[in-house]
Amino acid sequence: MMTRRIGEVLKNSQPDESVTIQGWVRTKRELKGFAFIEVNDGSSMANLQVILNPDVPDYEESLKKLNTGASVEVSGILVPSPGKGQRIELEASSIKIYGESEPETYPLQKKRHSFEFLRTIGHLRSRTNTMGAVMRVRNACAKAIHQFFQERGFLWVHTPIITASDCEGAGELFTVTSLNLNDLPRTEKQEIDFAQDFFGRRAYLTVSGQLEAEVMAMAFQKVYTFGPTFRAENSNTSRHLAEFWMVEPEMAFCDLKGDRELAEAFLKYIFKSVLDNCPEDMEFFNQRIDNTVLATADNIINNEFACITYTEAVKLLEKSDRQFEYPVEWGVDLQSEHERYLAEELFKKPVIVTDYPASIKAFYMRLNDDGKTVAAMDVLVPKVGEIIGGSQREERLDVLEKRIKELGMLEKDLWWYLDLRRFGTVPHAGFGLGFERVVQFMTGMGNIRDVIPFPRTPLNAEF
Ligand code: 4AD
Ligand code: MG
Repeated sequence: MMTRRIGEVLKNSQPDESVTIQGWVRTKRELKGFAFIEVNDGSSMANLQVILNPDVPDYEESLKKLNTGASVEVSGILVPSPGKGQRIELEASSIKIYGESEPETYPLQKKRHSFEFLRTIGHLRSRTNTMGAVMRVRNACAKAIHQFFQERGFLWVHTPIITASDCEGAGELFTVTSLNLNDLPRTEKQEIDFAQDFFGRRAYLTVSGQLEAEVMAMAFQKVYTFGPTFRAENSNTSRHLAEFWMVEPEMAFCDLKGDRELAEAFLKYIFKSVLDNCPEDMEFFNQRIDNTVLATADNIINNEFACITYTEAVKLLEKSDRQFEYPVEWGVDLQSEHERYLAEELFKKPVIVTDYPASIKAFYMRLNDDGKTVAAMDVLVPKVGEIIGGSQREERLDVLEKRIKELGMLEKDLWWYLDLRRFGTVPHAGFGLGFERVVQFMTGMGNIRDVIPFPRTPLNAEF
């Protein structure tokens, strides 16, 4: 018989249907003359309740082995459930145990575990309700991202992970080495000089696919990347990862206004899509993690985002009676406390801040007519702060060359990037969405380490 997924059975099936399911035991309750087990297969928050009667082959023996964490296959007939909160349950006619799980040593006990503890058992935490919901929302969000761009004629381009350029100019790079460990005698392996280079050249793990996305936009007009990026910032905050996924659309024939409009439509679309596709998981987050999650999603979908310039933002922050840890004045970069104040307290919705001082932004951003600000935008949201950073790019060869010189960067490293301004240059713009930041924002999860299956931070990278 074909096995079915539990989420689908719970949604679509009727009593009297024969089904086979496979999954992991969550709980076992032995009563007089029969037992209940709850089985989960990751397809939904809800478990399927299975009733085991003594006429099931090997009843006694199976019962002993059906502990939390054991893997099973159950066949039987669906019956209406007298219990609260479930429509149907499965009356087992046969049960097969694939792998046992010793109750005394299985790290996931029935009680609620802290997220800190769960991070220490990264290989098992996806079997919990919260991580299950996170991973399903993450998947639905990724699907919505592709749908949004594909429906609008954007080409998904695969930009490299190994690159020679520091797109953001922040120097937060992991270097890549071509060292072959097998070429070294065993004793030397312990003393490797990790400053070694990549086949005689410099190479890093990419901090952003933007520069390569610009190359592709100059041929395909509208493109996007969706892949892993790496930052060697030694930040142990609840919003920073050393390895995170970024979504970066890039559009030729587009200015900052078009970029802003795309960012807003994009966030509205992915929130709506996740609400439509993961209603139970979103309800769970609202009940168990943060009771503003659903209201926030509603706010994103139905209200226009606020939009102010950096100069206006600084004035608002200077005027506020809030004591900030980092004082604000024109020219300084906004800190997370400022970003959150604007979005969370002042506007109570996402705020797009535009036209930052050139001195605090990357080399590629288009210089405004005032000569001191650039056509940049950051999208700030309550709780998380910045989730999107973007800009219109400098398409004028002379202005870009001047900027590269001013920053002490080397033109010879960027000859190909400058070529784009020599041959068929055009106004263009794009942005980068931090994928984990948006999943964090959607789910209300307090720590970014809990919205990615295997977090890489200065303190967490066990396997
Ligand atoms: O603002 P950032 O640095 O912008 C860029 O990299 C541009 N090249 C994007 C572009 O225009 N194509 O990063 C973009 C977003 C941030 O807004 C944030 O959401 C996320 O990436 N981000 C991080 N997320 C998790 N951990 C980190 N260490 C992050 N650094 C940035
Ligand atoms: Mg940024």
